[in-house]
This record gives sequence, structure tokens and C-alpha cells, in this order.
Amino acid sequence: MGISRRAFLERVGKAGGYGAMFVTMQGLGLLAVSKAYAGPPQLPAGSGKGVKVAVLGAGIAGLVSAYELRKAGYEVTVLEARERPGGRAWSVRKGTVIQQDDRPDQVVDWTEGRHHYMNAGPARIPQSHHAILGYCRDLGVPLEVMVNGNRTAKLDYKGQVVSNGQAINDTRGAFSELLAKAIDKGALDRELTGVDKQRLLGYLGAYGDLDPKHIYSNREGRAGFQAWPGGYDHPPKGADPLRMSDMMQAQFWGISGFFEEFAEMQATMLQPVGGMDRISYALYEQVKPAVTFGAVVKEIRRAGKGAKIAYTVGGAARTLDADHVMITIPLPVLAKIPGDFSPRVQEAIVGGGKTYGHGTKVAWESRRFWEQDDFQFGGLGWTDEPNELIWYPSGGFGEKTGILMGAYSIGFSGPFNPPKYAAMSLEERFAISRRVIEKFHPGHGKELTKPFSVSWKHTPYSEGVAVNWSENQRTGDYAVLCKPDGPFYFAGEHMSYINAWQEGAALAAHEAIKLIQARVSAP
Ligand code: ALA
Repeated sequence: MGISRRAFLERVGKAGGYGAMFVTMQGLGLLAVSKAYAGPPQLPAGSGKGVKVAVLGAGIAGLVSAYELRKAGYEVTVLEARERPGGRAWSVRKGTVIQQDDRPDQVVDWTEGRHHYMNAGPARIPQSHHAILGYCRDLGVPLEVMVNGNRTAKLDYKGQVVSNGQAINDTRGAFSELLAKAIDKGALDRELTGVDKQRLLGYLGAYGDLDPKHIYSNREGRAGFQAWPGGYDHPPKGADPLRMSDMMQAQFWGISGFFEEFAEMQATMLQPVGGMDRISYALYEQVKPAVTFGAVVKEIRRAGKGAKIAYTVGGAARTLDADHVMITIPLPVLAKIPGDFSPRVQEAIVGGGKTYGHGTKVAWESRRFWEQDDFQFGGLGWTDEPNELIWYPSGGFGEKTGILMGAYSIGFSGPFNPPKYAAMSLEERFAISRRVIEKFHPGHGKELTKPFSVSWKHTPYSEGVAVNWSENQRTGDYAVLCKPDGPFYFAGEHMSYINAWQEGAALAAHEAIKLIQARVSAP
């Protein structure tokens, strides 16, 4: 019996963690973002006067909620367990203490500098994320280009290292050659008219760099050179094409070849100058008096028509009364907090909470040898090893030293990498990361210093990357959480179709705010 495309993709998602789920969602068109973004909800001025809202969590959803509600006069209190805003959206730099469950604390001792940071959570913003970019615009957060796709960056085909440009052009050449061959042999005669065939062959010749006999040989050098063109007696000699059968061995072969074609993964994306947490801090600046850090929520109770939150600050027990509660705590964390949720809502919280996947990053301080010696500026390097991606800095070109992300293991290369890499000791993670960087930049692995690593699953109050709703859950658990449960409303990336992005958190907050406003303004 066949299975539907949706069911198939859903299985892929389950097996593959976030990376596979991302592809699934893109495949189903779930990550497309409306062009019609009209800004945050415009709540009538003063409409929240005298209405108390408790916001649980000061990540993007919590901060956005607090910011918008306060503008309309609501009395907002934000309880945040960590000692900083941003939640999973955070940046580490000199002095940051990285606490991880089951791992030793790490105190970051990189050189102090505007570009010496690692975005330990989100690290790129697509131009289609209008809500987040809107807040950057309104709050004056300076942005710069984040080089996501770089044809110069390297791929590691089980030790055979080539440029992304070579792999992409060799793949294109091989496909074009195959298709041209099929057309030449008349295999597509039923699909194509004679004129169409000639047009398509013309297109393939240009697209795939085919010679008049329809053979691909990298004669234009699009895939790079073994001898680069130079002055006087230095004519170019193109690199020998890779065989498609060799390229197909790599798990990342498909996705790395068209990564920038995903709606949310453009070749040039954006990042705040100085670290992703500049956005959270800009929002925090707007709502500072409402926020209590170190506030660990212990119980979420109903009280009359409203709610009572029990929490601790520095070990001291406290309570907070509210008319409405905006709950933005990630579901695996929320699932462990006793709350007066209706049974179906509790079930949905636990169900969604179980789906959060692994993700791990490693970053090093180093002389910027990838730029100074190898002339590579930004981009992603791909490997099938468990660290999956090397992510080059886009800020600070020309500076002497920088921070090189030597691992971003979240399932883009292969489904089994993220749990495997996260389970390793810090030393094991560092060793793999150094080995892969050495493959890409021979002789330079030894220049890497001061490695630090963050794993989402091991980070207190995060406990995973993001939700991975199955198709069934979208109409079940997810739909249940989209409705208020008495005084409780849910927001966060998990309450959106843009999972694992700050945009999802902001847009979910907007929806939840509208629900509170509707309740408040109901006659
Ligand atoms: N949004 C995440 C990324 O950019 C998953 O990779």
C-alpha cells in the first residue's frame, strides 16, 4: 500500500530531527511567509488599563507580548528564569558562563570585541521575516549582511574536499548532460515538440556548460580551476569534474546543492551587528521595568476568573496574581510545571514537548586564516561528520582574529548527527570540529583556540531546539493550544508555522495578544 506524500514527509521528520522537518515543511509550503504583513496588532490606546497580564518567559515571544501590551496600557509582569532576556535567542561572548546539564560550566574568555561572539541560538534572518525585521527597524537595531551561501566555502566528501561552487556546477553539468542525452536519443519525444527540444537543448547547453556534443567538462571553469587564470603565460585550466556517483555518497549532497533556494535560506541573509541578542536587548530596553530575572515558575494556577503564579527568586517564594497569563515557556519545560490546565491542554503540552530535537554548536577563537590565507569570506562548509556545518563569520572582515563556528549540528547533513554529537563530551566535540576545519584549511587546525560548545537539549530552560509538530498534531495538539484555556494563552515559536525561527515567536505573540484584547474588549 502506498503512503501519501504528507505521511512520508512526516516520517522523514520524525527520523531526521529538525533538518529533515525543515525540508518537510518547505516541501509542503508551510514555511512560506505572507507578503501581507501589516505590522503588529494595533491595540487601542489605553485599552489594557487596569488589566494585569503575567508573561511567562522573556524570549522573543514574551518580550514582544510585553512590548505590545504595555503600549496599550496593560499592566504587564514578565517572569524570566534566566538572568538575561532572549531565551533561546542568545549570544555568548567574553565573560558569558555557559551552563549545561551534565556538562561542566564554561566561562567564555575570548578577546573582547564587537565581532567576537557566537550566536548560540538563531544566527540568521531571512528578508521574508517582516515582523522581526520590523522590530529591528523600529528599535534601531543595526543589521549587516550574513553570508549564508558562499560558493567558495568547502564541502567534505568523506575527505575529498571541494568548493561548493564545484559541487553545484558539476551537479548541474551532470544533470544537463543526462537530460540532453535523453533528448538526443528521443526518450522525451512524447513530452516535447521538435522546437521545444531545440530550445531546451540550447538552454541546457548554457545552464550546464555543455559542449556542442552535449558533454559537460567544466570548460568555462565555473566549477573552479586547477590552474587559475593569471598574467602572462598563465592560462586557466578548469578543475576536473567530480563524478556524480562520488558526490551522491555524501548525505548532505542534495541539500547543500540548493540550500539557498529554500524560501528562508537566502544566499545573503541578515544579522544584527554585534550578535543576535541585540534584538532581545532592544526589546528588553522597552519593557525593562516589567521584567524580573531569575524568576523560576513553580506553579501555574487558576484563581477566580484569573490566575495565580507561584515562583521563586533567589530561593524566595513569591506569587503573582493576573487576569491573563501569556505562557511562552518551551513545551518540554512547561510540561514539568504543575498547572491548572484542562486535561486536553496538558496532553497537548506534553505531546508537543516530546518533539523537541537536538542541536549543538561549537565556536573557536582564531587568527582569521580562512580569510587571510584562504580568501574565504563567510558562508557555510558542509560535512557528513557529526558537527555537520562550519559557519564562517560575516562580520569583522579584515580584523586579525575572529570567532569561527566549528559546528552547527542540527540535522541538515544527516538525521543521526545531532543526537550523536550532543551526546559527546565537550572534548570529543572539539576534536571532531578541529579535524573537519583542518580538512578544509590544511595546516590551520592547530591555530584554533578557546573552544566553547552549547547544546540546546542540555541548556536549562531550553531543553531542545524547537517544536516538531507532526501533521496529525497540527490538527490536534497544536490546534488545542491555539485556543485560550481559561486565563492561559500560549505563544512562542511552537505556536506558529515558522518553527525554530524568531519570526514564528513574534507572530505567535501577535496572535495571542489579539486573543487577550478580544477578551478584554468583549462587552
Ligand atoms: N532557523 C534555524 C536555522 O537557521 C533552524 O538553521
